[in-house]
Amino acid sequence: MAIDVEKILRPVDTPMPDFPPKFMTLSSGEQMVIRQVGREEIPDILPYVEPLIHVERDFYHIVAARVYAELLAYYTHRVQDEYVLIGQIDGELATIVNGRRVNADIGMSFHTMALRRGLRVGAHAFAAKMEYHMDILKQKEVLIVAESPIGFRRWMIEYNLEKRFEIPHELGGCPSWSLTRELFDRARDTLVVGRRPVPEALLAKAKAGILPPSDPPTPPADLLAATRSLYDSTATALIEQRKRLGGVK
Ligand SMILES: CC(C)(COP(=O)(O)OP(=O)(O)OC[C@H]1O[C@@H](n2cnc3c(N)ncnc32)[C@H](O)[C@@H]1OP(=O)(O)O)[C@@H](O)C(=O)NCCC(=O)NCCS
Repeated sequence: MAIDVEKILRPVDTPMPDFPPKFMTLSSGEQMVIRQVGREEIPDILPYVEPLIHVERDFYHIVAARVYAELLAYYTHRVQDEYVLIGQIDGELATIVNGRRVNADIGMSFHTMALRRGLRVGAHAFAAKMEYHMDILKQKEVLIVAESPIGFRRWMIEYNLEKRFEIPHELGGCPSWSLTRELFDRARDTLVVGRRPVPEALLAKAKAGILPPSDPPTPPADLLAATRSLYDSTATALIEQRKRLGGVK
């Protein structure tokens, strides 16, 4: 008897409303569009995440490795109820956020990644993701963890998140923090920015293609900085690591 194994492996997604795209003006004066992407656009994003797996600074490596896996899982139908939002500046990929619907009341925040630094693009994208859980999916709380000190400052401190340490987060089983509806409503006027609808030409430019990040984080050219972050004062481990990675500079 022939069995269609793919049918068994593939979870059936719960129908979820789309995130309505929005745009905002950044401190540089540039405009960023935040929009949801479907599975068909994932192959256009993966090549810009992969190099960040080799950037130790600010924990880009672990976040990029996990984001890569989560995007691939979404693309290949190996995750339940995931969504992905991206921020684009003039078409260029500036930020990626994703998460998952756990059930009608609870959302699971996966990751936030900034590919352009210093403009709060990650903070804006995170706020959009919370908006998706609270205003669009109408959930009661979102479970969150941070993998980096910057992430901790941006989410736990800026939103004053509540501890839910009794709940292991899906990212590595770490103790969870929670954004409740009350906390989100408190942050709404200060942290959640953006306007709708996105002007037609601006949205069309974003949808026309996901362009490469113009100034993505890279591993430090300064070997000393890199060795300090690895506690490797002779740089031996770092040099060996670079050799193993081959072409990675
Ligand atoms: C966490 C993250 C999404 C925040 O993105 P963001 O809001 O756009 O903020 P940035 O990363 O650009 O800047 C964060 C801080 O680092 C500083 N910074 C670090 N590198 C910088 C650079 N190259 N240029 C400018 N500022 C930089 C900024 O001044 C800023 O300081 P502030 O908090 O006082 O404003 C982003 O730092 C990131 O992708 N980090 C790696 C992955 C990660 O940790 N994700 C979160 C997992 S919980």
